[in-house]
Amino acid sequence: MTFRANQREATAPAEPNGRVPRHVAIIMDGNGRWAAERGLPRTEGHRRGMEAVRRTVDAAIDLGIETITLFSFSSENWSRPAAEVSFLFGLIRIFIRRDLADLHRNGVRITVIGERANVPADIVGLIEEAETLTAGNTRLNMVVAFNYGSRGEIVRAVRRVAEAVKRGEIDPAAIDEATIGRHLDTAAIPDPDLLIRTSGELRLSNFLLWQVAYSELVFLPLYWPDFGAEALRAAVREFASRDRRYGGVAARSGA
Ligand code: FPP
Repeated sequence: MTFRANQREATAPAEPNGRVPRHVAIIMDGNGRWAAERGLPRTEGHRRGMEAVRRTVDAAIDLGIETITLFSFSSENWSRPAAEVSFLFGLIRIFIRRDLADLHRNGVRITVIGERANVPADIVGLIEEAETLTAGNTRLNMVVAFNYGSRGEIVRAVRRVAEAVKRGEIDPAAIDEATIGRHLDTAAIPDPDLLIRTSGELRLSNFLLWQVAYSELVFLPLYWPDFGAEALRAAVREFASRDRRYGGVAARSGA
């Protein structure tokens, strides 16, 4: 097991002078290319990618990050060869079965977002078990985006709002951004402050499109299996150097 066996008394900020993002969302990209460059099967890239997940969770706890959201399987990933889809499903099974106890001991709360309707029943069972067991944990909220696509999530949210309108619970004229936010899978989760994508690709690939409206975006030129504490710290340093204005003016502009 890579997760630490004991919870620490307090979380020491690794960058004492910098701002630490409360919520970091990560598009874990490049497993296949990492493997191909080494003449290995793509599945080996995913297996090493899971080790990077473990390192990243430890590093996020060290940095005092409150929420980390990991894109582990997109609704578009069904178009991959069946053997690769089944390997990725196997990884989530292994992850929950092998790591759940350690995560729980470390105070990690697990939340899974995404569409569950077409997910194998045993995986839905494992997800529910993980969410229930860790519901009271507060050290780190680990959000796993599994069978997730942002447009699909928005469609499901709109359907829920429409049903509430039909029942007479919501007045259409009163629908605002908060109404939509409350009906998304991420209703209970604050928006990401920082979004990281590995592998050098510069796109969002249908990930948290509503939620990243004001997130800082950091694209790193390394493949996900090479990600770890150092890369996370580098992204956090980059975040700390950014001037977040939310459409307003810079604090230092003096206007
Ligand atoms: C993208 O690389 C990665 C994925 C589609 C899967 C990510 C899954 C893991 C890291 C392991 C499981 C994670 C958890 C949280 C249990 P790619 O295959 O698209 O790489 P490529 O673009 O180089 O082909």
